[in-house]
Amino acid sequence: MRIKYTISVVFFVTLVIIEKENNIISRVSDKLTPRQTPQTPLQPSGSSHELLKNNGSFSQLNKMDSAFTLMKRRLENYSEYQSLVTRGRKHILLLATTRTGSSFVGEFFNQQGDNMFYLFEPLWHVEKMLTLETGGTNATASAKAYRDVIQKLFLCDFSLLESFIEPLPVDHITPNLFRRESSSSLCEESVCSPVVKGVFERYRCKTRRCGPLNLTMASQSCLQKEHRAIKSVRVRQLETLRPLAEDPRLDVRFIQLVRDPRAVLASRMVAFAAKYKNWKQWALDGDVPIDDDEVRKLKGNCDNIRMSAEIGLRQPPWLRRRYMLVRYEDIARFPMRKATEMYRFAGIPFTPQVKSWILKNTQASKEASGVYSTQKNSSEQVEKWRFSLPFKIAQVVQRVCGPTLKLFGYKFVSSEEMLMNKSISLIEDKMFNFL
Ligand SMILES: *[C@@H]1O[C@H](CO)[C@@H](O)[C@H](O)[C@H]1NC(C)=O
Ligand SMILES: *[C@@H]1O[C@H](CO)[C@@H](O)[C@H](O)[C@H]1NC(C)=O
Ligand SMILES: *[C@@H]1O[C@H](CO)[C@@H](O)[C@H](O)[C@H]1NC(C)=O
Ligand SMILES: *[C@@H]1O[C@H](CO)[C@@H](O)[C@H](O)[C@H]1NC(C)=O
Ligand SMILES: *[C@@H]1O[C@H](CO)[C@@H](O)[C@H](O)[C@H]1NC(C)=O
Ligand SMILES: *[C@@H]1O[C@H](CO)[C@@H](O)[C@H](O)[C@H]1NC(C)=O
Repeated sequence: MRIKYTISVVFFVTLVIIEKENNIISRVSDKLTPRQTPQTPLQPSGSSHELLKNNGSFSQLNKMDSAFTLMKRRLENYSEYQSLVTRGRKHILLLATTRTGSSFVGEFFNQQGDNMFYLFEPLWHVEKMLTLETGGTNATASAKAYRDVIQKLFLCDFSLLESFIEPLPVDHITPNLFRRESSSSLCEESVCSPVVKGVFERYRCKTRRCGPLNLTMASQSCLQKEHRAIKSVRVRQLETLRPLAEDPRLDVRFIQLVRDPRAVLASRMVAFAAKYKNWKQWALDGDVPIDDDEVRKLKGNCDNIRMSAEIGLRQPPWLRRRYMLVRYEDIARFPMRKATEMYRFAGIPFTPQVKSWILKNTQASKEASGVYSTQKNSSEQVEKWRFSLPFKIAQVVQRVCGPTLKLFGYKFVSSEEMLMNKSISLIEDKMFNFL
């Protein structure tokens, strides 16, 4: 009886100590690596629960003790490894769809300065080749290719992307990288090789005359930058990128940029007139065949965007602290405030260069606080679509994209008068991120 009592006291005390150390370790590891803990080695809970259910015996206690020591060592190893590999390096992926202002928001990161390696739509090449080869119809294969290319690029490895560039680069040199000039990192002096006579470069640097892009030089420059950012309008489902979030070599932050689908459609009807000729015809006719492929495509796009956001906002362990949702309308109205928030979320210092770029390009005016700014005349810009999109078409979008509008806080219109009445805002104030 007495022995038993002693054993259970020892057991109890040990448990308390272990519990305490556990807390300390998890707190320390939170500080060192603000990310979810890896699954395999760090889950002692299962085994200790089992022990709790059983009677404490010395052999079990010893087992637990050594398991705990091993866990602790692995945890220390992991933290060390993590901080060695990423050293505070951040990998930002700006996810959007076309006509949501993603080029503009991409500039927030492109303008960061010498610490940032920014790439503008590198997946353009991947989509192009997959479309040529298979019609781009295999969504699973596309998603995998997109993910793998992004992963390599975040590690400054251009080899996989190279295999999608046409014509295939020779000696890692290409004059055809899509929109090279949109990435200031690819136009820096260290990445600028001499002009080659007779080689026509499809996209030229604006800041200096450069020859075809030497991807080896690009990779070397990338390795020297502290942070990396990629903008893409081609990823359909956030969930397909899960391996990036779980790659211990990366510290990825996803920023999903969304916009009112009615405004997106209105904008695409202007920007991609040929592709959207059916919609333009329906706008004239005032009649939309609701079971048309184009309408189904619109619904598919809305569903993808909504499902990605739902996963992000639910914050599953693999996405904890890695996901931020931003509305185009909020950026247009409060560019400085939203840029500041994005940088805080990314864990990167907001530089004077970014600030001055935003001031120059948005006519943002300082508010009383001097911290946040708003764009003048913004509501007019943001709501222009309300006067170009016929009410009939708006109704169709509301019908097939209803849940998406609702999730992002875009108000439904019930009449043409409401659609065109400027004193009724269609944007609800909404907070999305709980950081
Ligand atoms: C735990 O101890 C109690 C009382 O001594 C005993 O009845 C029970 O069988 C033991 N359970 C296990 C799993 O050893
Ligand atoms: C910790 O890392 C070292 C060196 O990489 C390795 O040899 C050792 O097995 C690791 N320990 C644990 C507990 O994982
Ligand atoms: C689509 O791609 C996946 C992954 O590459 C492949 O396993 C599958 O067979 C492909 N499906 C079709 C219909 O080609
Ligand atoms: C490309 O850049 C690398 C690294 O600077 C260099 O070694 C290589 O010679 C360059 N290639 C050509 C064809 O200039
Ligand atoms: C908005 O800007 C346009 C021209 O850019 C100007 O004509 C209009 O008066 C401005 N409206 C307001 C409310 O400032
Ligand atoms: C626009 O909406 C406001 C607020 O609901 C209303 O007071 C006003 O009469 C409306 N204007 C028109 C032209 O319908």
